[in-house]
Amino acid sequence: MEDKRKVPAHVAIIMDGNGRWAKKRGLPRTMGHAQGARVVEQILEDADHMGIRYLTVYAFSTENWSRPGSEVTALMNLLRTYMKTSLAKCARNNVRIRVIGDKTRLDEDLQQAIADLERDTASNTGIQFQIAINYGARDEMMRAIRSLAADAAAGRTDPSALTEEDLSARLDTAGIPDPDLLIRTCGEQRISNFLLWQIAYSELYFTDCAWPDFSKAELEKAVDAYNHRERRYGGLVN
Ligand code: FPP
Repeated sequence: MEDKRKVPAHVAIIMDGNGRWAKKRGLPRTMGHAQGARVVEQILEDADHMGIRYLTVYAFSTENWSRPGSEVTALMNLLRTYMKTSLAKCARNNVRIRVIGDKTRLDEDLQQAIADLERDTASNTGIQFQIAINYGARDEMMRAIRSLAADAAAGRTDPSALTEEDLSARLDTAGIPDPDLLIRTCGEQRISNFLLWQIAYSELYFTDCAWPDFSKAELEKAVDAYNHRERRYGGLVN
C-alpha cells in the first residue's frame, strides 16, 4: 500500500536515558553510551530509508563537561571512534556530516577528525546528519550575536536592518531548515538548551523509551504522531 504519510524533512533528537538503561541492567553507564552510539548508526540508516532528509542528534552538551571525568572521556572516545570509522559508511550511503557546537574546546585530534569528515562528506547528496558536540543553544546564539555585533561595530552592517535570517545564517545550523519534529526519549519533557531558536515551530514528541532501546518502530511511532498534529505556525485553522 502506498505510504501517504507526511515524512518530516528534519528530525532532531535528544537521546536521553543511556545511564538509566545501563543501571537497570547492572552495567556501567558507559555501556549505555556505547549501546546508544550503535543505535545512532542504525537510526541514521532507518531515517534515510524513511525519506527523512536531515537528522540532528544531541551527543554532548556544554553542560555535560560537569559529569565525572571518566564518563566525559568515554563519551569523547565514542565520538572519536565514530568520526574515524564512519567515513567509509558515509561514502557508501551518501551521508553528509556536520558537527554543531563549539568545537574549539575539543581535543585537537578530534577537531581534526571532524574537519576531515565534514570536508570529505561535503558533496554527498543523501541524508544530512548533524551531531551536536559541546553544544548549547544559548552558547550558539551568543556566538552568533557576537559575530553580528562585531560586524555592526566595524560598520559592515546596520543594526537596525538586521533580520531573523541574518541571525539564522550565523548559527551552527546555517543553511539547514528548522526541525519539523523534535523527539526526546526516556520520559523527561524538557528541551535542555537544544536548538532553542530553531524549534520555534517544531512539533515536540516525548517517549518513555530509553535511547538504547530506540528503534525504527519507535521512529515510525513518532512520525505517525507527527502526522496527527496540525501545524499552524501561529495562523488559523482553515
Ligand atoms: C543522555 O543519557 C545521553 C548523552 C548525554 C550522550 C549521548 C551520546 C550517545 C548516544 C553516544 C555517542 C553519539 C554518537 C553520535 C556516536 P544520560 O547519560 O543523561 O542518561 P540518564 O539520564 O539515564 O543518566
